[in-house]
Amino acid sequence: MNPATNRHRAAGGDRMNSAINRHQAAGGDHMNSATSKHHLNRPGDDRLAKRSTSLLISGIGELFTNDPAQGEIRHNVAVVVDGGRIAWVGPDGQAPAADERLDAGGAAVLPGFVDSHSHLIFAGDRAAEFGARMAGEPYTGGGIRTTVAATRAAGDDELRASAGRLVAEALRQGTTTIEIKSGYGLSVADEARSLRIARELTDETTFLGAHVVPAGHDPADYVDLVTGPMLAAAAPYARWIDVFCERGAFDGEQARAILTAGAKAGLQLRIHANQLGAGPGVQIAVELGAASADHCTHLTDADVDALAGSQTVATLLPGAEFSTRSRYPDARRLLDAGVTVALATDCNPGSSYTSSMPFCLALAVREMRMTPAEALRAATLGGAQALRRTDIALIAVGARADLILLDAPSYLHLAYRPGVPLAKTVLHDGVPL
Ligand code: NIG
Ligand code: FE
Repeated sequence: MNPATNRHRAAGGDRMNSAINRHQAAGGDHMNSATSKHHLNRPGDDRLAKRSTSLLISGIGELFTNDPAQGEIRHNVAVVVDGGRIAWVGPDGQAPAADERLDAGGAAVLPGFVDSHSHLIFAGDRAAEFGARMAGEPYTGGGIRTTVAATRAAGDDELRASAGRLVAEALRQGTTTIEIKSGYGLSVADEARSLRIARELTDETTFLGAHVVPAGHDPADYVDLVTGPMLAAAAPYARWIDVFCERGAFDGEQARAILTAGAKAGLQLRIHANQLGAGPGVQIAVELGAASADHCTHLTDADVDALAGSQTVATLLPGAEFSTRSRYPDARRLLDAGVTVALATDCNPGSSYTSSMPFCLALAVREMRMTPAEALRAATLGGAQALRRTDIALIAVGARADLILLDAPSYLHLAYRPGVPLAKTVLHDGVPL
């Protein structure tokens, strides 16, 4: 057993926090002090015992660390995970002993994907709308109201089961952190229950009462509802607030009012911006210090400059352009300007019904001229930055042990072998699935 673990045993501390404490004692830098429990929750699964078993992963052919301090890509290394955290990274053969061992057999190992944008709380699907689109119909976002009707009619258990199935589907493909939005309830009670159910699955929950103005509401009255009683009911279950700032949804003035009210209620900001056309969304994101501007498909030079001079991440969602047969965002232009880019699925029943981060990563490489390394960074570290998280998406001592063992020798295979289920083993919080 390694010395750190011995220290832990001697101190008799709670195992889950022991890795955090060790890291802090060692002068750890880039992690959150994180007694917080940000994680993708899997109800009914008692993982504490497993988490308290240290695990040596040896025989790693290629390790994508996301950590320039130790080398972004390392070869022939081993990793020890303990207490849900990375406890050691170093040359294979020099690793300290651990309770259990997993031989990676030369495989590539990477940080778990961070899907920083999804809409998983809904009922029904819109396959017919997709079919019509592939026959030439445009995407307008008008179908959101169809999903709102189905979601309102569904019971809690149905919504919980459907979202849980999608989270499990994402996890199998390597997503170890997921953000989930409301936005298909659009009444005080339905938005609050959407977020309550989302909160059972993840701590990264986002209030999107401002998705569209629901049928039968006056837009100004609806903004008052969103910024008043709906926000009050949603805020206890949400970390973030989001607005669909787009022609036909909410204009710049409304978006600013909604985000400002959310910030006053203690929520952090993100925004659906510049998806279907140019507009003020990106500028508002930067002005208000939003963590992320999402979609960013139609940008002016001024938008790109504003993002480049800001802390706001541009989150690109190529699954939406794929499923709406639209032009992809210009990732190259953003990266070359120095903008931090994230990739996420946008998983929802209308514009992007995929839970697959590897699929989005492959699209980003093939269709958006990102290099495979840029795409993997964006799908991991970029997502973490879009969620203002420093404890995930790194394979370095003290980081959360969220890892993917690929059925491939290199991360390059993620885009090189599109559509192939390459996530052989996924570790979440240090525990293999
Ligand atoms: O991000 N753009 C707004 N919301 C979703 C689509 C929602 C839907 O079509 O149901 C999006 O693409
Ligand atoms: Fe979205």
